[in-house]
Formats: sequence, C-alpha cells, structure tokens
Amino acid sequence: MLRRPGLLAFIATVGVFYLIVWHLLLREEHADVSACGTSRHPWSKGGLKGILGIGTKKRPDHDGHPISELIDGAFTSLSHLLCERSFSLEQAADRYRKRRGRHPPPGFDKWFEAAKAADAIVVEEFFDRIHHDINPFWAVDPLELRRQAHSQPQLIRVRHGEAFFETDTLNRPEFIQLWTKLVQEIMPHLPDLDMVVNVMDETRVLVPWEDMTRHFAAEQESRNLFPISEAVNEYTDYAEFDKPGYSGASEPHWIGGRQHEYWDFLAAACPPDSPARKFTRLSNFSSPIDEIFPTDTQPYTYKGFVNNVTAASDPCQQPHLRGMHGTFVESISMSTTTTLFPMFGGSKLPQNNEILIPGGMYLTDREFYSGGDTHGPPWRQKMDKVVWRGVASGGRNKEDNWWHYQRHRFVQMMNGTTVGRVENGEPEAAPSFILPPPTYSSGLQQPKGTLGPWLSTFTNVSFVHMECFPPIYDAEGRYLPDCQHTDPYMRVNAPVPMKEQYKFKFLPDVDGNSYSARWRGFLLSTSCPLKATIYAEWHDDRLFPWLHYVPFDNTFTDIYAIMDYFLNGHDAEARFIAEEGKQWAEKVLRREDMRLYVWRLLLEYARVVDPQRDRLGFVTDMVGRS
Ligand SMILES: *[C@@H]1O[C@H](CO)[C@@H](O)[C@H](O)[C@H]1NC(C)=O
Ligand SMILES: *[C@@H]1O[C@H](CO)[C@@H](O)[C@H](O)[C@H]1NC(C)=O
Ligand SMILES: *[C@@H]1O[C@H](CO)[C@@H](O)[C@H](O)[C@H]1NC(C)=O
Ligand SMILES: *[C@@H]1O[C@H](CO)[C@@H](O)[C@H](O)[C@H]1NC(C)=O
Repeated sequence: MLRRPGLLAFIATVGVFYLIVWHLLLREEHADVSACGTSRHPWSKGGLKGILGIGTKKRPDHDGHPISELIDGAFTSLSHLLCERSFSLEQAADRYRKRRGRHPPPGFDKWFEAAKAADAIVVEEFFDRIHHDINPFWAVDPLELRRQAHSQPQLIRVRHGEAFFETDTLNRPEFIQLWTKLVQEIMPHLPDLDMVVNVMDETRVLVPWEDMTRHFAAEQESRNLFPISEAVNEYTDYAEFDKPGYSGASEPHWIGGRQHEYWDFLAAACPPDSPARKFTRLSNFSSPIDEIFPTDTQPYTYKGFVNNVTAASDPCQQPHLRGMHGTFVESISMSTTTTLFPMFGGSKLPQNNEILIPGGMYLTDREFYSGGDTHGPPWRQKMDKVVWRGVASGGRNKEDNWWHYQRHRFVQMMNGTTVGRVENGEPEAAPSFILPPPTYSSGLQQPKGTLGPWLSTFTNVSFVHMECFPPIYDAEGRYLPDCQHTDPYMRVNAPVPMKEQYKFKFLPDVDGNSYSARWRGFLLSTSCPLKATIYAEWHDDRLFPWLHYVPFDNTFTDIYAIMDYFLNGHDAEARFIAEEGKQWAEKVLRREDMRLYVWRLLLEYARVVDPQRDRLGFVTDMVGRS
C-alpha cells in the first residue's frame, strides 16, 4: 500500500508528464497551422479562430446566409488542404510523383531545402499551375522548343550559373528587369535556359482547343516513373546553340491589328460544346448593352454568389463577355500566335498558353502599386466604405464602344447618382449596365428604388484618367484626362494613394488591360479585398475565395448584394476575410514565395526543353527505399 507522500509525488509526476505531452502536441498542431483530422469549426466557441490560429473579433452566430456558408466552406477546404503540407523532402517528392506521374526534375532537393529554409508552405496543389502551363510542351520536340526560344528579342538567359537579359528595345522594359532580378536571386541553382518573356500588357499565345487537346493527351502518354537506375541528373547545355553564327531559330507567325476579332480567336480555344463556340464576335459595338447583358443565373454561382472562381473567370462559359470586357472589344495592341510557343508572362486568359510567372509589378517596391510599408490602420479605425481609383484602361475606349468596357461599367454601377437615375426610369443615364435582375439580388435588403441613395452613402469610386481614344492633347502635348464622349456620365477625380485607400474597409479590384498590379498590395493590406477578373495568375491555386478575398462576378451584378451583406450585420466576416487574407499573403505571397515558384517552374521548364527529358529526374530520395 502506497504511503500518502508517494502517491502525491506519483500524481504530480504523471501530471507534469501529461502537461509536457499535451504542450508538445499542441505545439505540433500549431506548427502544422491546420486542424487536420478534427472537426474544429471556424466559428466555434463564440469567436473566430483563423486558419493560422490567430483569433479575431467575435462573430454573431452563423445565420445561414449564403455568403456565411461560402466563408465556412472556404475555411474547411483550406484546412483540409493544409493537412497535405510537406515537411520533408521525401514527402514532397512522393506527393510530386503521385500527382504528376513523373519523378521531380533534377535540382528538386535544393529547391525543397530553400523552401524549408524560407519557412514556405509547400502543398503540392499550390503548384498545379506550373504543370498546367508546362504540360503541353511535352508534346513538342525539345530541340524545336530551344530553337523557338533562342533568338527571341525579349528574353532572360541563364548560362553557367548566371542570369542576364537581352532586349532589342532601347528603353529596356521594366518588366524584364524586374523578372531578371528575381531569376538572379535563384542563381546558381538553375541549369542553362532561354526564357522568352512577354513585355506587352496583352497576352500572346492562343492555340485552338483541338491542338491543345492533342498536346495534353501526348503529355499524359509520356508520363513515366522510370526505374531509378535509368535516371539522368544533368541537364543538357546550350553549346550547340551558342556557337557563333547559329542560325537555326524558328519564329512563330504573329498576328497583329485584328484586336476586334479577338473573341473569335478565343472561341477557337474553347471546348466544342462550350457556349463560347456558339457565338462569333460582335460585328460592331454600337448596340445597347441590354442586348448582351445576361439576366439568367450563372451555373458557377450559389444562391447568386460566385462559388467557383475558375468557371467565373472563364470566358468560354460566358459568351456575354465578348461585349463586356475590353480584351474582346478592342485592346490597345495585339500580337498573337496560334502555335504553341514557350513564352513566360505575368497573366493570361484561362485559354492562353503562356507560362505564368508573377506579374512584373508584383516585384517592384514602387509605392504606387504596393502602398510601400503601410498596410493600413486597424479595422476599427477604417471607414465603412468602398474606394476605387484607376485609369479607364481595358482597351481603346471610343465614342462608339466605351460602354462595353469593364472599368466604365464598374464606375457607373458604383455611382449612386447614376443608379438612382436608372431606378427612377432613366436607363439612358447608364449605357454600360442594366439593374441586376432579381436572380442576382439574393439577400439584398435594400427596398426597391433606394439602391442609388444607399450607394451614395458608402462608395467613393472614380477614374483618374479617361484614356480617351483617339487621345486628346493640350498645347504642351499632355494627354488630357477628360474625354468628350464620357464626360456627361463620369468625371475624373484626384488619385487616392494606396495608403489612403487602406483607410477604407473595402477594396474592389477589376481588370485593366490585363491583370491589376495592385492586387498583391490589396491582399497584404488590413482591408477587405474584392475581385472580379478573367485573368489567371501564378498564385491562383494558393488563394481561397471567400477566405482571403471576396470574389464577384465579371458582370458586377452581385456587388450590391455582397456589400449589403457586409455593411449590414456582417462586419466581423469582412474583418475576418481582411485579416485572414493578410496573414495568408504574408505566408504564401512573399517575395521568397515568388522566387520559389519561379525556381520550381524553371526546373520544370529546363527539363521539358531538354533533349534528354525522358530520363531527367530527381530520384536520390528513393535510393535504399523500397
Ligand atoms: C451593328 O450591328 C448590328 C447588329 O448587331 C447591325 O444591325 C448594325 O447595322 C451594325 N451597325 C453598323 C454601323 O455596322
Ligand atoms: C469549377 O469549374 C471548373 C471549370 O468550369 C470545373 O472544371 C470544376 O470542376 C468546377 N469545380 C467545382 C468544385 O465544381
Ligand atoms: C473620396 O475619398 C477621398 C480620399 O479619402 C476624399 O478626399 C474624398 O473627399 C472622398 N470623396 C467623397 C465623395 O467622399
Ligand atoms: C456620377 O454620375 C453622374 C451622372 O449620373 C455624373 O455627373 C458624375 O460625374 C458621376 N460621378 C463620377 C465620380 O463619375
């Protein structure tokens, strides 16, 4: 029989032991930043627990609003995906093989080491974009790919452990300089390669669907987890190509000057059974917007709100976009090929075939795009308002087409005076939109006919320059900000610097000529970002709509119901998304993350353009494992 002091000591020892184990387990769970295998709910215990474990303000009980459901769903999806985070090289390589059907490319070990050193969140799915972009090139002869790239006018070359750029323009485009700097930060870990870059705003490569389908099938065929004894670890150099007098370059056929036909090029890249194939481009843009503005519910929505951003950004599914986005109306310039060609670029339509890298402007520290070191005041000090400033970009906006451009539509739809006039029976006040049909107004609490005055209480949205076409210059040759054909409908206002914008709770972002360069700054800010786009970007697989930002439709018809939700009783949810998005961006959108993405992408690219690609693979982790 135990004496009392012994029993106490025993209990104390066991207690301390349990505390230590409990502490270790909790720490482990925290380090894993996820809730793997548990049913922990984001709203549990009366407050919000972010994915990264940082509590935010209390939220009222879940009220069954569709947006609340979408936020819940996004939280759960990311929690589950984070269970797949790789902490070791073996895990990362195994997951690679499982998902890609190949061995990782040589150099994968150094890449993973760097990712670990940078505390990067490595989830194989976050790199899906790389494979989607690179895969079709497995269908093309690697030597042909090298010939295509070798002599292009805008490229970054890697030779013998050094990276530098070549350009044929005297002004040395800013994009190419920014990208080169990033590639230099990866050196000396890259094999020799030629990386052609797109320095235009507009996208360049758009291959018909039938050709792409063949290319994707060929890639599937070529997948092979060959035995480790067959693996080659060294990339092939460019000695053949770098000989003086090399003349084997092969140039794709560039199509220019047909921007008003771009929809037809796009439609050819859409699946045969997709809605886009059934519509040719608009022959002119003089007809009123109500002839094209959709009034039916879109298949990618849930009770009126976007629940699949992949589909929501896909023009193949939305033929109305042929008359509602500048890309399909009249872009500023055009130089397109319909042949698969290895070119890197910062953004593209879902059907374009560029290989995506982070947009050049995400790599600059110019305050104009990022707001500098300021990310905004705490939530409670912000105004309950929406701010947007921008130029009227998107294409050549002219007297006979301007109401088809997305930014013009957005500015008009956010203008309380304009909306009020439409509500009062004056549709001619708003050539760019029609009021959302009831199917889009799910949950909208504002009584009929009061949308205009209500908008006026919280929107601060205007252009800073109309980018009129043809341009109007003053006597000194300055491009004037106004524009006769739009002056009756909208006026330019003073720009609002990013750090001033961060004093507003809501920051919507819409496309210009291509992706919007302020997006990364918005995500890193303490405000709540909202996004409508048809462009794909490098980071799409790592950003979760309704958790890191608020998605809205490219028609913008859901924006009223969205603002009604957040402004009327769901401030905690807006704050949750603002804070969750910021914390996440600080984990996965850092410069290190962009460098790691490009690093892994360039290993993949170097392999696909290598004559020995069928045997190039990283297999060292498998040696000695069964
Ligand atoms: C513009 O297209 C419409 C049909 O969509 C046609 O009726 C009209 O005549 C065209 N206008 C011009 C100026 O070509
Ligand atoms: C979202 O849309 C895409 C493209 O239309 C489709 O392939 C995908 O299956 C959809 N995702 C979900 C979860 O429905
Ligand atoms: C919009 O915001 C700017 C910057 O804060 C401010 O100067 C301006 O007065 C605001 N305009 C309206 C109409 O509230
Ligand atoms: C808002 O619309 C009215 C006309 O409906 C227009 O006069 C005004 O300039 C517009 N405001 C802005 C900021 O564009």
